[in-house]
Amino acid sequence: MMTVALRWASAAGLILALYAPVYASADDEIRLDKAPVNSSDMASLQRGAQHFMNYCLTCHSAHLARFDLLEQLGLTEAQVKNNLILTDAKAADYMTVVLAPKDAKNWFGVPPPDLTVEARVRGADWIYTYLRSFYRDDQRPSGWNNRVFPNVAMPHVLWQLQGQQALQPQGENGHLVLVTKGSMSPEEYDRFAGDLVNFLVFLSEPTRGTRLHLGVWVIAFLVIFFFVARALKHEFWKDIH
Ligand code: HEC
Repeated sequence: MMTVALRWASAAGLILALYAPVYASADDEIRLDKAPVNSSDMASLQRGAQHFMNYCLTCHSAHLARFDLLEQLGLTEAQVKNNLILTDAKAADYMTVVLAPKDAKNWFGVPPPDLTVEARVRGADWIYTYLRSFYRDDQRPSGWNNRVFPNVAMPHVLWQLQGQQALQPQGENGHLVLVTKGSMSPEEYDRFAGDLVNFLVFLSEPTRGTRLHLGVWVIAFLVIFFFVARALKHEFWKDIH
Protein backbone atom coordinates (compact mmCIF):
# COMPACT_ATOMS: atom_id res chain seq x y z
CA MET A 1 0.00 0.00 0.00
CA MET A 2 2.78 2.32 1.06
CA THR A 3 4.79 1.69 -2.12
CA VAL A 4 1.78 2.50 -4.34
CA ALA A 5 1.31 5.81 -2.51
CA LEU A 6 5.01 6.57 -2.86
CA ARG A 7 4.94 5.83 -6.57
CA TRP A 8 2.00 8.16 -7.04
CA ALA A 9 3.75 10.85 -5.04
CA SER A 10 6.94 10.59 -7.10
CA ALA A 11 4.97 10.55 -10.38
CA ALA A 12 3.11 13.70 -9.30
CA GLY A 13 6.42 15.27 -8.29
CA LEU A 14 7.91 14.48 -11.66
CA ILE A 15 4.94 15.98 -13.52
CA LEU A 16 5.12 19.12 -11.39
CA ALA A 17 8.87 19.40 -11.98
CA LEU A 18 8.32 19.12 -15.74
CA TYR A 19 5.65 21.83 -15.72
CA ALA A 20 7.36 24.20 -13.29
CA PRO A 21 9.65 25.90 -15.85
CA VAL A 22 6.66 26.47 -18.15
CA TYR A 23 4.75 28.20 -15.38
CA ALA A 24 7.79 30.20 -14.35
CA SER A 25 8.41 31.48 -17.90
CA ALA A 26 4.70 32.22 -18.44
CA ASP A 27 4.87 34.50 -15.41
CA ASP A 28 7.90 36.39 -16.71
CA GLU A 29 6.50 36.99 -20.17
CA ILE A 30 5.03 40.29 -21.22
CA ARG A 31 1.27 40.18 -21.81
CA LEU A 32 0.57 40.43 -25.53
CA ASP A 33 -2.28 42.57 -26.85
CA LYS A 34 -4.76 41.02 -29.26
CA ALA A 35 -4.10 42.07 -32.86
CA PRO A 36 -7.21 43.12 -34.82
CA VAL A 37 -6.72 40.60 -37.63
CA ASN A 38 -9.53 40.36 -40.19
CA SER A 39 -8.67 38.68 -43.48
CA SER A 40 -11.85 39.95 -45.18
CA ASP A 41 -11.32 43.64 -44.33
CA MET A 42 -9.87 44.72 -47.70
CA ALA A 43 -9.58 48.41 -46.75
CA SER A 44 -7.44 47.50 -43.72
CA LEU A 45 -5.29 45.13 -45.81
CA GLN A 46 -4.76 47.82 -48.46
CA ARG A 47 -3.71 50.34 -45.82
CA GLY A 48 -1.41 47.73 -44.25
CA ALA A 49 0.22 47.02 -47.63
CA GLN A 50 0.84 50.75 -48.11
CA HIS A 51 2.42 51.08 -44.64
CA PHE A 52 4.59 48.03 -45.28
CA MET A 53 5.90 49.42 -48.57
CA ASN A 54 6.52 52.87 -47.07
CA TYR A 55 8.10 51.95 -43.76
CA CYS A 56 9.39 48.36 -43.74
CA LEU A 57 10.53 47.25 -47.20
CA THR A 58 13.50 49.60 -47.08
CA CYS A 59 15.24 47.30 -44.57
CA HIS A 60 13.21 44.06 -44.59
CA SER A 61 12.53 41.92 -47.65
CA ALA A 62 9.52 39.67 -48.23
CA HIS A 63 11.31 37.66 -50.85
CA LEU A 64 8.82 34.78 -51.08
CA ALA A 65 6.08 37.12 -52.34
CA ARG A 66 5.73 38.98 -55.63
CA PHE A 67 4.29 42.48 -55.91
CA ASP A 68 1.40 41.24 -58.07
CA LEU A 69 0.15 39.30 -55.03
CA LEU A 70 -1.20 42.67 -53.91
CA GLU A 71 -3.80 42.47 -56.68
CA GLN A 72 -5.55 39.92 -54.45
CA LEU A 73 -6.39 42.81 -52.14
CA GLY A 74 -8.80 44.26 -54.67
CA LEU A 75 -6.22 46.51 -56.35
CA THR A 76 -5.62 46.87 -60.07
CA GLU A 77 -2.22 46.26 -61.64
CA ALA A 78 -1.90 50.02 -62.25
CA GLN A 79 -2.68 50.84 -58.61
CA VAL A 80 -0.05 48.36 -57.42
CA LYS A 81 2.49 49.78 -59.86
CA ASN A 82 1.82 53.46 -59.18
CA ASN A 83 1.12 53.45 -55.44
CA LEU A 84 2.84 50.46 -53.91
CA ILE A 85 6.01 49.78 -55.84
CA LEU A 86 8.36 52.51 -54.71
CA THR A 87 11.41 51.27 -56.62
CA ASP A 88 11.84 50.42 -60.31
CA ALA A 89 10.75 46.81 -59.62
CA LYS A 90 8.14 45.19 -61.89
CA ALA A 91 4.82 43.71 -60.73
CA ALA A 92 6.12 40.18 -61.29
CA ASP A 93 9.25 40.76 -59.19
CA TYR A 94 9.73 39.41 -55.68
CA MET A 95 9.66 41.88 -52.80
CA THR A 96 13.38 42.06 -52.30
CA VAL A 97 15.10 44.76 -50.34
CA VAL A 98 17.08 47.78 -51.48
CA LEU A 99 19.49 47.58 -48.58
CA ALA A 100 22.50 45.29 -49.14
CA PRO A 101 22.75 42.63 -46.38
CA LYS A 102 26.41 43.58 -45.80
CA ASP A 103 25.54 47.24 -45.14
CA ALA A 104 22.63 46.23 -42.93
CA LYS A 105 24.93 44.02 -40.87
CA ASN A 106 27.41 46.89 -40.50
CA TRP A 107 24.75 49.37 -39.44
CA PHE A 108 22.59 47.30 -37.14
CA GLY A 109 24.87 44.43 -36.09
CA VAL A 110 22.29 41.94 -37.40
CA PRO A 111 20.64 41.89 -40.81
CA PRO A 112 16.88 42.67 -40.67
CA PRO A 113 15.16 39.29 -41.16
CA ASP A 114 12.85 38.53 -44.09
CA LEU A 115 9.23 39.20 -43.11
CA THR A 116 7.30 36.98 -45.56
CA VAL A 117 6.28 34.43 -42.95
CA GLU A 118 7.04 36.49 -39.83
CA ALA A 119 3.37 36.42 -38.74
CA ARG A 120 3.52 32.63 -38.65
CA VAL A 121 6.85 32.60 -36.81
CA ARG A 122 6.04 35.10 -34.06
CA GLY A 123 2.25 35.30 -34.23
CA ALA A 124 0.11 38.38 -34.98
CA ASP A 125 -0.30 39.40 -31.32
CA TRP A 126 3.46 39.40 -30.77
CA ILE A 127 4.14 41.69 -33.78
CA TYR A 128 1.23 43.98 -32.84
CA THR A 129 2.57 44.39 -29.30
CA TYR A 130 6.16 44.71 -30.54
CA LEU A 131 5.34 47.61 -32.90
CA ARG A 132 3.72 49.48 -29.98
CA SER A 133 6.40 48.70 -27.36
CA PHE A 134 9.44 50.72 -28.39
CA TYR A 135 10.81 53.11 -25.79
CA ARG A 136 13.70 55.56 -25.49
CA ASP A 137 16.90 54.04 -24.10
CA ASP A 138 20.13 56.02 -24.36
CA GLN A 139 22.17 52.93 -23.45
CA ARG A 140 21.33 51.34 -26.81
CA PRO A 141 23.27 52.22 -30.01
CA SER A 142 20.04 53.13 -31.83
CA GLY A 143 18.67 55.08 -28.85
CA TRP A 144 15.69 52.67 -28.70
CA ASN A 145 14.76 49.54 -26.82
CA ASN A 146 11.68 47.34 -26.88
CA ARG A 147 9.57 45.84 -24.12
CA VAL A 148 8.80 42.54 -25.93
CA PHE A 149 12.20 42.26 -27.69
CA PRO A 150 14.79 43.48 -25.16
CA ASN A 151 17.88 45.09 -26.72
CA VAL A 152 16.48 44.84 -30.23
CA ALA A 153 18.73 46.17 -33.01
CA MET A 154 15.82 47.73 -34.93
CA PRO A 155 15.35 51.46 -34.36
CA HIS A 156 11.81 52.70 -33.78
CA VAL A 157 11.16 53.66 -37.39
CA LEU A 158 7.60 54.77 -36.60
CA TRP A 159 8.43 57.15 -33.76
CA GLN A 160 7.32 60.24 -35.63
CA LEU A 161 3.85 58.70 -35.87
CA GLN A 162 3.63 57.21 -32.39
CA GLY A 163 5.73 59.71 -30.44
CA GLN A 164 8.30 58.72 -27.83
CA GLN A 165 7.59 56.35 -24.96
CA ALA A 166 9.67 55.91 -21.81
CA LEU A 167 9.84 52.98 -19.40
CA GLN A 168 8.76 54.24 -15.98
CA PRO A 169 10.14 53.22 -13.61
CA GLN A 170 13.19 51.75 -15.36
CA GLY A 171 13.48 47.96 -15.13
CA GLU A 172 11.37 44.82 -15.11
CA ASN A 173 8.28 46.33 -13.52
CA GLY A 174 8.26 49.49 -15.60
CA HIS A 175 5.32 50.64 -17.71
CA LEU A 176 5.41 52.38 -21.05
CA VAL A 177 4.40 56.03 -20.84
CA LEU A 178 4.02 58.37 -23.81
CA VAL A 179 6.33 61.31 -23.05
CA THR A 180 6.37 63.09 -26.42
CA LYS A 181 3.35 63.12 -28.70
CA GLY A 182 3.62 61.87 -32.27
CA SER A 183 1.66 62.97 -35.32
CA MET A 184 -0.99 60.33 -34.52
CA SER A 185 -3.17 59.85 -31.45
CA PRO A 186 -2.63 56.55 -29.57
CA GLU A 187 -5.85 55.17 -31.14
CA GLU A 188 -4.73 56.15 -34.64
CA TYR A 189 -1.32 54.56 -34.08
CA ASP A 190 -2.93 51.35 -32.79
CA ARG A 191 -5.03 51.21 -35.95
CA PHE A 192 -1.91 51.83 -38.06
CA ALA A 193 -0.10 48.93 -36.32
CA GLY A 194 -3.24 46.76 -36.58
CA ASP A 195 -3.53 47.30 -40.35
CA LEU A 196 0.17 46.54 -40.77
CA VAL A 197 -0.13 43.28 -38.82
CA ASN A 198 -3.30 42.35 -40.71
CA PHE A 199 -1.26 42.71 -43.91
CA LEU A 200 1.66 40.66 -42.50
CA VAL A 201 -0.80 37.86 -41.66
CA PHE A 202 -2.10 37.98 -45.25
CA LEU A 203 1.48 37.94 -46.56
CA SER A 204 2.36 34.86 -44.52
CA GLU A 205 -0.67 32.96 -45.84
CA PRO A 206 -2.31 34.69 -48.84
CA THR A 207 -4.87 31.91 -49.27
CA ARG A 208 -6.19 32.26 -45.71
CA GLY A 209 -9.28 34.24 -46.75
CA THR A 210 -10.17 31.68 -49.45
CA ARG A 211 -9.50 28.82 -47.06
CA LEU A 212 -11.86 30.20 -44.40
CA HIS A 213 -14.51 31.03 -46.98
CA LEU A 214 -14.25 27.63 -48.66
CA GLY A 215 -14.30 25.85 -45.27
CA VAL A 216 -17.81 27.15 -44.55
CA TRP A 217 -19.08 25.83 -47.90
CA VAL A 218 -17.41 22.44 -47.39
CA ILE A 219 -19.03 22.04 -43.95
CA ALA A 220 -22.41 23.16 -45.35
CA PHE A 221 -22.07 20.61 -48.16
CA LEU A 222 -21.22 17.82 -45.71
CA VAL A 223 -24.24 18.64 -43.52
CA ILE A 224 -26.62 18.59 -46.49
CA PHE A 225 -24.99 15.45 -47.88
CA PHE A 226 -25.45 13.72 -44.52
CA PHE A 227 -29.25 14.07 -44.82
CA VAL A 228 -29.24 13.01 -48.46
CA ALA A 229 -27.15 9.92 -47.62
CA ARG A 230 -29.42 9.07 -44.71
CA ALA A 231 -32.55 9.34 -46.86
CA LEU A 232 -30.91 7.17 -49.54
CA LYS A 233 -29.98 4.54 -46.97
CA HIS A 234 -33.58 4.38 -45.77
CA GLU A 235 -34.78 4.06 -49.35
CA PHE A 236 -32.35 1.20 -50.19
CA TRP A 237 -32.97 -0.84 -47.04
CA LYS A 238 -36.71 -0.36 -46.59
CA ASP A 239 -37.75 -3.57 -48.43
CA ILE A 240 -35.14 -5.75 -46.72
CA HIS A 241 -36.03 -4.98 -43.09
C1 HEC B 1 16.11 50.83 -40.45
C2 HEC B 1 15.92 49.46 -40.81
C3 HEC B 1 14.60 48.82 -40.38
C4 HEC B 1 13.33 49.23 -40.75
C5 HEC B 1 12.93 50.39 -41.64
C6 HEC B 1 12.42 48.27 -40.16
N1 HEC B 1 13.13 47.32 -39.46
FE1 HEC B 1 12.32 45.73 -38.48
N2 HEC B 1 14.19 45.12 -37.92
C7 HEC B 1 15.37 45.74 -38.27
C8 HEC B 1 16.48 45.01 -37.69
C9 HEC B 1 17.96 45.36 -37.84
C10 HEC B 1 15.92 43.90 -37.00
C11 HEC B 1 16.67 42.80 -36.26
C12 HEC B 1 16.59 43.09 -34.79
C13 HEC B 1 17.37 42.13 -33.92
O1 HEC B 1 17.46 40.94 -34.25
O2 HEC B 1 17.88 42.59 -32.88
C14 HEC B 1 14.47 44.02 -37.15
C15 HEC B 1 13.58 43.14 -36.58
C16 HEC B 1 12.20 43.16 -36.80
C17 HEC B 1 11.25 42.20 -36.27
C18 HEC B 1 11.58 41.04 -35.36
C19 HEC B 1 12.09 39.90 -36.18
C20 HEC B 1 12.28 38.65 -35.36
O3 HEC B 1 11.36 37.81 -35.35
O4 HEC B 1 13.35 38.50 -34.76
C21 HEC B 1 10.02 42.55 -36.74
C22 HEC B 1 8.68 41.85 -36.50
C23 HEC B 1 10.19 43.74 -37.55
N3 HEC B 1 11.54 44.08 -37.57
C24 HEC B 1 9.15 44.38 -38.18
C25 HEC B 1 9.31 45.57 -38.89
C26 HEC B 1 8.19 46.27 -39.49
C27 HEC B 1 6.74 45.81 -39.46
C28 HEC B 1 8.72 47.37 -40.09
C29 HEC B 1 7.97 48.46 -40.79
C30 HEC B 1 7.13 49.29 -39.94
C31 HEC B 1 10.17 47.36 -39.84
N4 HEC B 1 10.48 46.24 -39.12
C32 HEC B 1 11.04 48.32 -40.31
C33 HEC B 1 15.50 46.89 -39.03
C34 HEC B 1 14.46 47.62 -39.57
